[in-house]
Parts: sequence; structure tokens; C-alpha cells
Amino acid sequence: MAKISDGYDPGPGISHAGSISLGTKDIEKSLWFFRDVLGMEEVERDGNVAYLRAYQELRHHSLVLREQDEAVVNAFSMRTRRAQDVELFYEHLQREEIEAVEIPAGTEKGRGTAVRFLLPGGEHPFELYFDMDKTEAPEEIQSRLPSNSSTRRGLGVRRLDHFNVQTSPQTINQTEQWAREHLGLKRREFAYLPDHPGTLMASWTSVSSQMHDVAFVANRLEKTGQMHHVAYNLENMSDALTAADILRDLDVSFGVGPGKHGIGQAMYLYVHDPGSDHRVELYASGYQIFDEDWEAIEWRPEDFPEGLTWYGDPIDTTPGSRGRDTTGTAGLRNPLL
Ligand SMILES: [Fe+2]
Repeated sequence: MAKISDGYDPGPGISHAGSISLGTKDIEKSLWFFRDVLGMEEVERDGNVAYLRAYQELRHHSLVLREQDEAVVNAFSMRTRRAQDVELFYEHLQREEIEAVEIPAGTEKGRGTAVRFLLPGGEHPFELYFDMDKTEAPEEIQSRLPSNSSTRRGLGVRRLDHFNVQTSPQTINQTEQWAREHLGLKRREFAYLPDHPGTLMASWTSVSSQMHDVAFVANRLEKTGQMHHVAYNLENMSDALTAADILRDLDVSFGVGPGKHGIGQAMYLYVHDPGSDHRVELYASGYQIFDEDWEAIEWRPEDFPEGLTWYGDPIDTTPGSRGRDTTGTAGLRNPLL
């Protein structure tokens, strides 16, 4: 048996989906949506960039809003397991001949050094980081619960939950396989395209006990680099029903939901940020995975509609957001630089 003194090192790893950077054409409208309606805290403002977090997030931010001409996704950011993993991933990407750039500490406020690259095949801009400040909320919104950074407000989103990204049917297998082999994401549930056996229609993957931290979906428009939605977590299923009532009165469009997924078994409500039009899923409950030897569950074509929607409206599977602002590796350019 190996001893600790043997110096075994599992190599770099990912901990969870940590934050997302969204472009918006109207930051004030987006702030109204995320801060005043969803109840997130605006932690810091830096010119045309705002940093927000949900009430159970102790670190500086899980959402960056940047006012810009195109409402694209600027970065999907995942936190690494250890501080040294950021550099180890950078070296790994270089060995794999994948172009990567270092994002200096502080480029995103409150965050340490990150490495940025385009996901092979999908070309979504991913950033890996470890250090992020723990930040105290202003006294007037501090919670008496030390596990909450602030009091529960608005619709009460409590933390970022997952990303749902889309790429073309020609690239989805490569993208998903690369993410499993190099980022350590594990396939939890999946389905093949009915008319292209062996080509993924969707794969739900995670490194945490959640059923998914990142979902990969084939895009019938054959576009790479798309985002379908980013999900924020609610404590209770009934919170999604309350959200629907409140959003209806505020005249914020939600196309689909409230309903329940068969895949993942969570309650959903899909709503669009009126400032950016990015799709946000309000997500509650769902099952957890603790078995290390979990076997991925396949959804057959005839069962797939129930997988997407166990009950509620059928899901609009068209992409909502482009995941990069330019084509090719030019997307590596960090919008905050
Ligand atoms: Fe989702």
C-alpha cells in the first residue's frame, strides 16, 4: 500500500463551477434583474464591470457583468482543487499544444491568477482559478448565519449551480471527452442523437456530488461556442413557483417552466435577463451522487422527452448566448484586459 510519504500526487483537478462572466448591452437592466429581482449582492463595481454573488457564496463573486457591445459569454470559470493546480493545468495545456493565456491576479477583481483557454472542439472560453477573496457583506445585509454571506433577499438564489453549453454535433463528442479526460468531469447521464447513433445529444457531467456541474448539448444549428443557460440554485422547489409569480408581475419573460426534469430530477424555471437576454435557469432540488463507481445512465430516444421535462412545459433547446466574442483562438483575448 502506498504511504503518504511516497509523495503520491493526483495531479491538477477541478472543484466546481465557480463563476461566469456575462456581457450585457444594458448593465443597469441586468443589475436590476440579478441584484434587485434574483436577490444577489453587488459586491463591487469597477466602471462598466459589476461583481455579484448569491447569499450563500462567501467568496467575492460568482457573476461578472460587463457592459459591452455584444452580449456574449466572456468566460466560464471553474475553481481548481488546489492553489498549485492553476499552474499545473497551464503546463498541462501547453504539453497538449492547446493555446492558453495567463490572466493576472486582479484582472477579475478579488480573484487570483487564472489560466484561460478555448475548450477543444466546443471553443467555449474556460478559465481555471483557485484564489478568490472571502469578502464581508455590508453590515446592513449581513446574516446572523455565518454560512451565509448576506441575508436571503429577492427570489433567493443561493449559489451558482451549473453551466449548460452547446456545441455542434460534429464536435460534441470531442469536447465532452476532452473535458472528462483533462478536467476530470465524470459523465453522469447522457443520450445519443436518434439519427446519429454514437453522437452525443447531451451529456451531464460533474466533479462534485451534483448530478452536473457542466452539461454539454449538441446544437442542431451546428454552432460551436454557445451557452444554453447558467443555473442558479434555489433552496426549495416551491421557490421556483414563487419566482414564477413574482416574475410574471414584474413582466420578466420566462419561456419555460416551472417544471421538473427527469434527468437530474430538479425543478426548473428558465428566465431571460432583460438586460443581456442570457438565459438563466432557476434550479432547485435534484439528486446527489456519492458512489465513486457511478455508471452513467443512458436515456434512449423514446424516453428523452421525459428526461428533459418530467412534467411542465417542453424545453426550448435553442442556444441563448454565444460563448465568445470572436472566432477561433482570438476568443482567448480576455475582455477585462
Ligand atoms: Fe440546467
